[in-house]
Formats: sequence, C-alpha cells, structure tokens
Amino acid sequence: MIQHPLPIVVLISGTGSNLKAIIEQTIARNLPIVIQGVISNEPNALGLKTAHQAGIATYVLNHRDFSNRAAYDLALDALISKINPKLVVLAGFMRILTTDLVNRYRGRMLNIHPSLLPKYPGLNTHARVLAAGDNEHGASVHFVTPDLDAGPVIMQSRVPVLNADNAASLAARVLATEHKIYPIAILWFAQQRLRLENQGVIFDNQVLTQPILWPIVT
Ligand code: GRF
Repeated sequence: MIQHPLPIVVLISGTGSNLKAIIEQTIARNLPIVIQGVISNEPNALGLKTAHQAGIATYVLNHRDFSNRAAYDLALDALISKINPKLVVLAGFMRILTTDLVNRYRGRMLNIHPSLLPKYPGLNTHARVLAAGDNEHGASVHFVTPDLDAGPVIMQSRVPVLNADNAASLAARVLATEHKIYPIAILWFAQQRLRLENQGVIFDNQVLTQPILWPIVT
C-alpha cells in the first residue's frame, strides 16, 4: 500500500525545540509526515528560524494585531485552512483557543503538555510539582478539546524528581522526553493507528483505557 505523507501544521510561540525534534525525527527516520507550515503568534519566536532553515513555510499571526480572542482565532482558522493540513500540532503555542476553533479541529489537533495530566494543567507545572513534593513528573500528548489541557491523553513520559532539582533542571529533563514522545504520537496518527472517537482515544482499534507509557516496552 502506498502511504501518502500526512500534511501537518505546527503552531509555536517560542523556542520550538519540540518543532525541531519533529523536523529531525521526520528526516532521520523518513517518517510519513510533511510539515506544510509553521505558525507563530510571536514574531521573534526562535522556532521560526528553525523552520525557515529547514525550508518550511513560516507564518506570523501576531495576537497583538487583533482586538479579541475570537477575531484572532478566526484569522488563525483561515490561515490553517489555507495551509490545509490533516493534523494541527500545538508545540508550545501559548494561547488559549476558542471553543469554536477547537471544535472545528476535533480529532485533528494534538498538544503536548509538561505534566502527567490530569495533574497540573496550566502554567508553571515544574515549580508546582516541586512545591507539592511529588517524586515523579512527566509530559503528556493529548487530543485537544475545549477545556484547557483536559483532552484525552494518548501518551505519557515519566521522569523522576531528584532531590537536587529546581524548576529549570526538572523542566529540562521533562523536555528531553517531550522530544521523544511527540514525534511518535504524530507518526501513529499518520499511520492511522490513532484517532479520537466518542468513546475516547482509539489506538490500534482498541479504546485506550490509560495513556501509552514511554519508553514503550514491546
Ligand atoms: C514545552 O514544555 C511544551 O510541553 C509546552 O511548552 C514548551 C514548549 O517548548 N507546551 P518548545 O517551544 O517546544 O521548546
């Protein structure tokens, strides 16, 4: 069977290290993925440079140019529609999306969040994990639904919290695992092994009862 590469668009706001990992993995492993465009709400996002250097089309949609969230998301929707991806990948896109936009991309929009969801949705997860005295932390890839960081989780990485950790060291350990899991989840979507149905996440034709843990033991 000939497999057509999955056209995706990646939305960023900053460093774009997850974007970089997706680009590198796509090339290194010849994944059936084609990044059709990278959109940033921040004009100076470092990730725009990474995309440009990789020959990927870049778009800046500065939220400061819009009077409200609904107007911004309408423009964002129009831009995404123009690029016409099969999957929208949020990779450090630091904006809350309107319900309308999220619903339009139901089952076709992924996010990565630096916590073991449902624990610690929202910001400053690493500091909150340290303050709570947890002994493990991690990252989650999930389908996006209207409630912030509350969509069905596909995959998680776990890392230990060490005595000597501060928020930065813990964030770095988690981020390194984000770079492993996000390309895998996107690959599974491209291979049609992964989808969102009313019952939840379907992986290899089974409803996922809990997130897939990385590293994957087979
Ligand atoms: C990551 O920790 C991601 O989980 C969160 O924002 C950060 C983005 O990092 N949503 P980068 O821009 O991919 O380096």
